[in-house]
Amino acid sequence: MRDVRVREAVPTDAFSVGALHIQDERERGASVPPGFLDTFADAWLRDRARRTWLAEEPTGRPIGVLHGTRVQKLPSAHRPADAWFHVSLLFVTPDARGLGLGERLLRTLLAWAPAERVTRIQLNAVPEARTLYERVGFGTPSDRLMELRLDAPA
Ligand SMILES: CC(C)(COP(=O)(O)OP(=O)(O)OC[C@H]1O[C@@H](n2cnc3c(N)ncnc32)[C@H](O)[C@@H]1OP(=O)(O)O)[C@@H](O)C(=O)NCCC(=O)NCCS
Repeated sequence: MRDVRVREAVPTDAFSVGALHIQDERERGASVPPGFLDTFADAWLRDRARRTWLAEEPTGRPIGVLHGTRVQKLPSAHRPADAWFHVSLLFVTPDARGLGLGERLLRTLLAWAPAERVTRIQLNAVPEARTLYERVGFGTPSDRLMELRLDAPA
């Protein structure tokens, strides 16, 4: 893992990010339709609020990705106009798991956050990954945070 580089993705990484995304989809049992890589890359390139970090081997092979969206709060008289971040995907290729790369990607995000005035990071955790998230400091949110699902059957 020592030789693995973690860096912020640039526009020319669109297909690498898309390829990792497809691996994640397949692992979840989804079948990816033809043309999906192009569709994904176009959407990722258009999304100006999205930030993405890649982990890559010295050969340039991408083996991990973390991406999500920074949400800027509007100016307010009663609280700081800081920002929050939603992590959409954390994925490491199966051959590279268990070596600390997921944690390294998360710690890269945590190190980036203060300069971007991000004061809260949220994500949906699968049960198997809770220990990882807890290790870097995540906890369950306050009982004030609520959610309404509009895509769920009544
Ligand atoms: C979650 C994931 C990114 C972790 O990457 P990693 O490089 O192995 O992470 P680390 O080596 O830093 O830490 C290992 C942690 O992975 C988590 N983990 C282990 N098996 C897992 C699994 N089947 N699914 C998800 N997370 C798992 C555990 O929290 C583990 O920590 P522990 O050993 O203390 O219990 C990787 O398992 C993965 O890509 N899984 C598939 C996608 C996924 O589940 N993403 C998270 C969605 S919330």
